[in-house]
Amino acid sequence: MSKRIVVLISGSGSNLQAIIDAIDAGQINGRIEAVLSNKAEAYGLERARQAGIPALSINHRDFESREQFDQAMIEQIDRYQPDLLVLAGFMRILTADFVRHYQGRMVNIHPSLLPKYKGLNTHQRALDAGDTEHGCTVHFVTEELDGGPLAMQGRVSVSAEDTADSLQQKVHRVEHILYPLAVAWFCADRLSWSADGVLLDGAPLPAQGYQLDQE
Ligand code: GRF
Repeated sequence: MSKRIVVLISGSGSNLQAIIDAIDAGQINGRIEAVLSNKAEAYGLERARQAGIPALSINHRDFESREQFDQAMIEQIDRYQPDLLVLAGFMRILTADFVRHYQGRMVNIHPSLLPKYKGLNTHQRALDAGDTEHGCTVHFVTEELDGGPLAMQGRVSVSAEDTADSLQQKVHRVEHILYPLAVAWFCADRLSWSADGVLLDGAPLPAQGYQLDQE
């Protein structure tokens, strides 16, 4: 059965666009029921509207606490009864209650080869460390920020000429392949996370997750 997807964003939404495009191309057995942003001006909301998807914003500043904001989000999201919640550049830290509510059906994409470089400024940190390899990771979301079990990774090579900007562009290109594929596999019941760990086609994946072979 086709899966119901809700996407959370805070910004440009290029990953959201990649998922919309993959659905339009028939590559994902699912439908985006709604896109939610904590920022009304997020361009990703415009992308959703152009695709005919309900686009909602909830301003976190309208709430006294993180708990209240997250509760309001849960109420909005659950109207759409999602099978999968996709964090695509959603820049708010989520409460434990929120994470538990969607555990096993919430994924995030992070612009580094986790467990390296959790948090911000990942491209500059990879450059500063002299890494020759960098990339992005799709992971299931747990209470630990950028710390949930890894599902899939895509790698890029770092050249001597790279800057944080050029690396960001390289990583984004891989994200736009990796994230739709992760969503497609989840929606096809191929990718899951349970007590047995992260499984692809019923077999446990290594700790770093499935490695996308694209170079
Ligand atoms: C991506 O780099 C993603 O890894 C990070 O936020 C960025 C979102 O970009 N979590 P976009 O809004 O999808 O263009």
